[in-house]
Amino acid sequence: MKIGIDQIGFYTPQYFVDMNDLAESRGVEPAKFTIGIGQSEMAVAPLTQDPVTLAANAALTFLDDEMRESIDLVLFGTETGIDQSKSAGIYVHDLLDIQPYARTVEMKQACYSATAALQLAKGHIALNPNSKVLVLASDIARYGLSTAGEVTQGAGAVAMLISANPRILSLENDSAYITKDIMDFWRPNYSPYAYVDGKYSNDQYIAFFNEVWEQYKGKANRSLDDFAALCFHLPYTKMGLKALRTILDETSEANQDRLQQLYEHSTTYGRKIGNIYTASLYLGLVSLLENSETLQAGDRVGLFSYGSGAVGEFFTGILEEGYEEALQKDTHRNIFAQREKVSVAQYEEMFTERLPEDGSEIMLSNENDPAPAYVSGMKDHMRLYTRK
Ligand code: HMG
Repeated sequence: MKIGIDQIGFYTPQYFVDMNDLAESRGVEPAKFTIGIGQSEMAVAPLTQDPVTLAANAALTFLDDEMRESIDLVLFGTETGIDQSKSAGIYVHDLLDIQPYARTVEMKQACYSATAALQLAKGHIALNPNSKVLVLASDIARYGLSTAGEVTQGAGAVAMLISANPRILSLENDSAYITKDIMDFWRPNYSPYAYVDGKYSNDQYIAFFNEVWEQYKGKANRSLDDFAALCFHLPYTKMGLKALRTILDETSEANQDRLQQLYEHSTTYGRKIGNIYTASLYLGLVSLLENSETLQAGDRVGLFSYGSGAVGEFFTGILEEGYEEALQKDTHRNIFAQREKVSVAQYEEMFTERLPEDGSEIMLSNENDPAPAYVSGMKDHMRLYTRK
């Protein structure tokens, strides 16, 4: 039985800051941000969008009533948790009106957790072929104003429906994975900002990729020639390229050109959004599928997932016949078209705004927020959510 991604949609808030403006304001040569890091724009979340609403809005790009009735597992991958106890997935389950007889949990391992969710979903479908699983990956990346990591922030979510006989990508079985205890990036409970050893994290990302790639080739008895395209976790678009370049000499020059061209397509959306942690790899996949004109059914796509701390996994999927028709290309184009550029001063103001942390009450208006699901306030230490 084929199991895999039947639907995939993303959401990002309606505000963004231009990287040229940010560079100018930080006294940096703009080319460092746009070429050296490879980011053009960075999504900025208003107070009315948090990881819960971003995830709900991503799922609303494709969810229909038949799916609402058949989803019996909701897995929410995030490292921007809003509660130490209650799963963010429960709020989304409610906002989306999914039938009640479902399991719902939140999962954490930095940017990797959505991949763990995807693999668990696959196992669940293998045992329950008529079920559907909603996998959510949602994050707001914050390193702090004027830090080296600032240029690699972002906000957004990807939602995926996992099922038997998927319409988009069927997952293969021979993935390779690794766990090692390293301190390249982490966020203690008391800090709203990530701590990071930037250069070390880059080196570890590549080392993990090389290790799982070698492991995969032995396990699956395949080579780079067997791949139409590779997608990478994209903390910034240059990062995946650095990893890809370490293995390109394993194939012909024509294949190298093709892989690099398709890599560019996988970065089109992320370049305008930034790092969305758990969702970044999957945003890259949507970007690849919606922007490439050469991919076709039967092609094998490889995916490298990396979550600091750290876990790495390389896994693969095969594009299904007619996959193009199952994509949400127009909806995603509209999400980009609705976006509004903000100045660096406006971004800084939004960045420092917080919901009350002392139990006081706040009611928020959605008059400037076009998203269907939004944070409508906070009362008695509880977040309030509304769906239009
Ligand atoms: P930095 O020190 O500001 O930048 O930090 P740099 O000096 O290394 O320069 C960056 C690149 O710009 C270099 O290119 C420069 O040469 C180039 P490279 O040599 O690397 O190819 N450059 C220029 N290019 C064109 N014109 C110019 C120019 N000037 C310089 N004028 C860093 C960069 C990414 C380290 C920083 O932003 C950071 O710490 N970010 C956060 C950490 C991160 O993203 N790590 C990635 C791997 S870990 C990961 O992916 C996991 C993560 O997503 C978290 C999770 O799992 O939850 C982060």
